[in-house]
Amino acid sequence: MHKIAVLPGDGIGAEIVPQAVKVLDTISRKYGYKFSYTEGLIGGAAIDAVGKPLPEETLKLCQESEAILLGAVGGPKWDHLPVAMRPEAAALLPLRKALGLYANIRPAYLYPALAEASTLKREVVLGTDLVTIRELTGGLYFGEKKREKTATGEVAMDTLVYTTEEIERITRLAFEVARARRKKVTSVDKANVLESSRLWRETITRVHEEFPDVELEHMYVDNAAMQLVRRPTQFDVIVTENMFGDILTDQASMLTGSIGMLPSASIGGKVALYEPSHGSAPDIAGQNKANPLATILSAAMMLKYSFGYSEAAREIEQAVEKVLDLGYRTPDIMEEGKTLVDTVTMGDLVCRHLEDV
Ligand code: IPM
Ligand code: MG
Repeated sequence: MHKIAVLPGDGIGAEIVPQAVKVLDTISRKYGYKFSYTEGLIGGAAIDAVGKPLPEETLKLCQESEAILLGAVGGPKWDHLPVAMRPEAAALLPLRKALGLYANIRPAYLYPALAEASTLKREVVLGTDLVTIRELTGGLYFGEKKREKTATGEVAMDTLVYTTEEIERITRLAFEVARARRKKVTSVDKANVLESSRLWRETITRVHEEFPDVELEHMYVDNAAMQLVRRPTQFDVIVTENMFGDILTDQASMLTGSIGMLPSASIGGKVALYEPSHGSAPDIAGQNKANPLATILSAAMMLKYSFGYSEAAREIEQAVEKVLDLGYRTPDIMEEGKTLVDTVTMGDLVCRHLEDV
C-alpha cells in the first residue's frame, strides 16, 4: 500500500487533483497496485478552515506519506495578507524546504498533436523535448529579506545565496538525468554579473569531470530565454537556480502548447512532491474548464520516481497522447476542428484510454 498525501489547495486545484486520483485508481485496478489517499489542507483553503496556510497536521501528513500530490495554492482572496500568511510564501515554499525537496524536475515535451496549439510557430516547437532541473530550496526565494523605512521612502532587500554543496547536489542530479536522455546539460546562470552565478559555473564545471560522457554548456539566462523560443530543440537538460528556473519553466511551458501541460516532480528528500507547474488560475476556478493533464502527468511522474512503476507511468503518457491525437481539447489548447471537453471529461478520457493501452 502506497500512502499518498493529497493536497488540492486553491482555485482549480480542487478540480484537477481528483482527475489525477481517478487516473491513479485506474492504474491501481489495472496493475493491482494499492494506493491510499489522505487529504490535507494547504494554502488559502487552510487559512479559511484553520487560520494558517500550512497547518502542522498537513506537514505531518506529508512527512508520514510516501508521496504528495498537490494542486495549487494562492488566489486574490489571500493576496492582501502579510507575507508570513500568504499561501505561496508561507505554505508552498516552507513545505518544499521542510521536506528537503531541493530539485524540481519540469519536463517540457511537445505532444506532436499540439504543435499548432502553441503561440509559437509549428516548425519552431516541433521536436521540443527538454527537462529543466530547477534548484528549489535556495537562492533568492530563501535568502534573507528586509524592508525598512528611510528618510525618503523605503528600502527593500532580497538576498541570493548559494553554497558549494547546494550547487553540487543539483548538478549531479542534472548530469544523471542527462545520462538517461540525450546526454547534454545546459547550465543557465548570470555569471557575467552575479557572484553566486560565478560559484555556480565553477562548481558545475568541476562536477562535470565526474560525468565526461555528458556534454556541458554554459548559457547566460537572458540568452537562454531567447534561445528557448528561437530553437527549443537545442536543449536536452537545463539546470539552473531557483528564480531563473521559475521563470524559464513558465516560458518553456508555451513550447508544449499550454502551461496546463507541464507537470513537475520535486525530489531530494524522503518524500517527493508532485504538482503541476501552473498556479491556481482563479479566473477559471470552479468552472470545470481547467486542463487536468499537467496534474495527471505529475501523477505519472509519481509512479515512476516514487514507486518505480515506470511502465504504468509510460502508459499514462501514452493515454494522454492518444486522447490528444483523437482531437480532445480543454479550452487552453483548443483549436478549430477539435473537440472541446471539460476538466472531468478530459480525466475520464485518459482513464478510458488507459484501459486500452
Ligand atoms: C512555481 C510557482 C511557485 C514558485 C510560487 C507559487 C511560490 O510559481 O511552482 O513555479 O515560485 O516556486
Ligand atoms: Mg512558477
